[in-house]
Amino acid sequence: MGHRSIGYFLLVYDHQPVLINMPAILVHTVGKSILFGEHAVVYGQPAIAIPVTNLRTKVTLTPDLKTQTPSYYYDAPDIGIHGTLEDLPHDHILVEALRIFKESFSIKSIPSFKLHVSSSIPVAAGLGSSASISVGIVRAIAQHLGLKLPVEKVNALAYQLEKLHHGNPSGIDNTVISYEKPLYYIRNHAPLFLEPREPFYFLLINSTIHSLTSQVVDEVRRAWEVNPTHFGAIFQDIGDLTDQARQAITKGDQVMLGQLITENHHLLQKMGVSLVQLDEIVALCNDNGALGAKLCGAGRGGNVIALVKADSIPPVLQALQSAGWTEIYQTSISKKWSHS
Ligand code: PMV
Repeated sequence: MGHRSIGYFLLVYDHQPVLINMPAILVHTVGKSILFGEHAVVYGQPAIAIPVTNLRTKVTLTPDLKTQTPSYYYDAPDIGIHGTLEDLPHDHILVEALRIFKESFSIKSIPSFKLHVSSSIPVAAGLGSSASISVGIVRAIAQHLGLKLPVEKVNALAYQLEKLHHGNPSGIDNTVISYEKPLYYIRNHAPLFLEPREPFYFLLINSTIHSLTSQVVDEVRRAWEVNPTHFGAIFQDIGDLTDQARQAITKGDQVMLGQLITENHHLLQKMGVSLVQLDEIVALCNDNGALGAKLCGAGRGGNVIALVKADSIPPVLQALQSAGWTEIYQTSISKKWSHS
């Protein structure tokens, strides 16, 4: 999703530099939550993810035609990172993005620009902050180069950027953020879009405990290597739940979906990626009227997602806030997604 706002650039006309209006490129991308199947998806099981549209990343690319030699500037004030390409670490997302574009499209030189990145998505919280930046940067640079990329290509390029930070990501984060639709996902397969028969409402409760996805994914891998039978069975059970959840979403079966969500949480506990704080949030939600709740994303921190009926939102919110859990977002999925 992108459009241009007005900036300026220098055009050399009749050997004279002329300052004219220059459109800057604005791209907005969404957050995401994993409803079923985190970790198991890395091992080939299906997973379900939903876009979270009220959490957003904004990427602004301002062409800089004043410079003769290509130069790039990155500014992400939310996380205190800014500098020219030379100031940034060699594996920084901008360095990698420029390399990927040059390689993929056989481009010798990309015209200079400044990139500004800001986001309302909390970092290291399992809500897709890194993937939303990857997708946003891909869309912005593509527009800068005049490339009209299909969403599949945006997704493929964003996946390459995600690999930089997560080593061996399943690709679910960049996929749901690229398509902005609820989807059923199996690694290395095209996503299947879900058509909820009726709206489902969710609360996302941020434990505010930071957790690094790559670290938790590595720990699960080590545990799986030590005990492949035990972990293989957990992944398989999660895959089975995910298949049932797909049916429940299509049928609009709220009660069934809620039960499956909580069962998925129990399997994540068994996997060892929950925390007492996350378990407490899940219990508070379920004891106060939610239909089901689970940690979402890599775990060991981050968010809990709870399925709620519209009329149980106030008591659940009240219980959470009284217990001190105050960073809460609301989101929903509905039929409109399949048509957008
Ligand atoms: O980025 P997070 O924390 O939402 O977790 C991504 C989901 C995992 O399954 C844990 C990793 C992956 O690559 O799918």
